[in-house]
Amino acid sequence: MTEEFIFGKLSDGTPVRAAKLSNKNGMCLTVLDYGATVQSLIVPNAAGKPIDVVLGYESAQEYEENDAYLGAVVGRVGNRIGGAAFSLGGKTYTLAKNDGANTLHGGTRGFDKRTWDLCCGENEIVLHRVSPDGEEGYPGNLDVQVRYALGEDNVLTIAYTATSDADTVVNLTNHSYFNLDGGGSVLNHKLTIGAERFLENDNGCLPTGKFLSVAGTPFDFREEKVIGRDICQENEQLRCGSGYDHNYVLSGGTAAILRGAESGLCMRVTTDLPGMQFYSGNFLTPRRGKGGQQIDYRYGICLETQLFPNGLQFWGFPSPILHAGEQMYSETSFAFTAE
Ligand code: GLA
Repeated sequence: MTEEFIFGKLSDGTPVRAAKLSNKNGMCLTVLDYGATVQSLIVPNAAGKPIDVVLGYESAQEYEENDAYLGAVVGRVGNRIGGAAFSLGGKTYTLAKNDGANTLHGGTRGFDKRTWDLCCGENEIVLHRVSPDGEEGYPGNLDVQVRYALGEDNVLTIAYTATSDADTVVNLTNHSYFNLDGGGSVLNHKLTIGAERFLENDNGCLPTGKFLSVAGTPFDFREEKVIGRDICQENEQLRCGSGYDHNYVLSGGTAAILRGAESGLCMRVTTDLPGMQFYSGNFLTPRRGKGGQQIDYRYGICLETQLFPNGLQFWGFPSPILHAGEQMYSETSFAFTAE
């Protein structure tokens, strides 16, 4: 069942529209047309208590100022592009340096800060926009669609489709911060990641091109582990990310399983994408969230399925190039169970 309403107004008066999608089990997703943002995702636990498992804000204007990308779709190229430039077809494209010397999450005004067209189907919310040629420095008019579908099996699927009229680069993901207890630090959550390797980062959280084995390191989540167990260990890579902020090389199958500490809620992530940025909310500063709730350092984790960041620069990284006239498609599912 879907329902549309006006969520609020941006500072220039533009209305922000929202759509609510619910299933028979009481699971309920709210998506905004601004940033194609997941504003709320309510999942009842085994005792029937509704738990909002994503961090979010109460007002449209807080989303406008959203420096942490809460719930948004990031693009045209999510994550980082080293040196804020790339070459394609013999031409160099210069982008905004909005993360030290690099570009982060699409640039100064990425997809998270744009208003999308929103429409609702029976069990889905579809967002669409055309990112014009030259927007944030990227070539090609990019036609993008993000489809959120919620099943009666408590599975939320996010599907991304994009086409361009000129060769370009694309790497889309959703930047939701999950907290399966509905609040508090996530360091006590349990996490499994289906990856044997992760990408080495430099000090700017940019992959160096080197693959590292998780074995014997704090990055090993092949067996379920409490997130906070190793996060403070003396480790060069943890220092680089100020915690976990790394792209895992997914082995295939389940990408991740997250388990709340108190709620009994569990989330299983599957994807057709090769990588997943595990970000432990290291740069989340104290702020007010929905319903006056406190958001703070490491109060949510992001599991951003994507192509490897900085993919144009390294041989062996899956290519983010989308050729003119071709279609890019990917999907990621988040399956919820209550124990
Ligand atoms: C991503 C990055 C982080 C950080 C957040 C936003 O997950 O990898 O380094 O920039 O976005 O705060």
